[in-house]
Amino acid sequence: MNKAVRKTIIAGNWKMNKTPSETTEFLGELKNAVQDADCEVVVCVPFVDLQNAVAAAKGTNIKVGAENLHFEKSGAFTGEISADMLIDLGVDYVIIGHSERRQYFAETDVTVNKKVHAALAAGLKPIICVGEHLEQREQGITAEVCSLQTKVALKDVSAEDLKNIVIAYEPVWAIGTGKTATADQADEVCGIIRQTIADLYNQGVAEATTIQYGGSMNAKNAKELLSKYHVDGGLIGGASLKTEDFGIIVAAAK
Ligand code: 13P
Repeated sequence: MNKAVRKTIIAGNWKMNKTPSETTEFLGELKNAVQDADCEVVVCVPFVDLQNAVAAAKGTNIKVGAENLHFEKSGAFTGEISADMLIDLGVDYVIIGHSERRQYFAETDVTVNKKVHAALAAGLKPIICVGEHLEQREQGITAEVCSLQTKVALKDVSAEDLKNIVIAYEPVWAIGTGKTATADQADEVCGIIRQTIADLYNQGVAEATTIQYGGSMNAKNAKELLSKYHVDGGLIGGASLKTEDFGIIVAAAK
């Protein structure tokens, strides 16, 4: 199989960074830096920045994503945001189950699955994050952990819906630490996730699914990581906050 059949997606995850006015200014610069991209370019930004991001991305090749959503359609959930609200704003993608949400906001594989269904029903494209902690890697259970997270996240998701889903392999020990997985480690686990999808659906579906790597990906290491067969893009934190670095990573995705 040829990895070129899959969509390469470079997505920034701004986390809790940048104000709405900074968003407008940043995207004004970023659109020039990524206008010749050979891949899908996405910026996932805080809820309050979404409106400005969508406005600034209009007429460019940049797509906008949210960093979370609630799984209910509406109701008494103070402080939460629904999929329909995001769609109405013009948002395309949504990150679901980032390890920081699992760690600090008690998200579980089951709530991740509910959010995936809510996102798909509204027409949003989920970027589902999976990944092992350091102790799990050291214990030799990385494959089991990532496979289990993938399986539960995709419970009752149809093969047809999988076309709109992106999986991001983000080893927790590599996030914000400057410690990147080696290109071979990233390739190996993205391959394990792909095999899990093949077991759940079939080989064709697995080969067509975009699987990103995330965790200290930067302007220097992106090319090598992205050259790997199973690595179809990146989910980038720190380096997505600088237009120059993000532009270099996008350019590396040829
Ligand atoms: P860093 O690129 O800052 O390590 O963050 C990765 C990440 O968590 C993206 O979702």
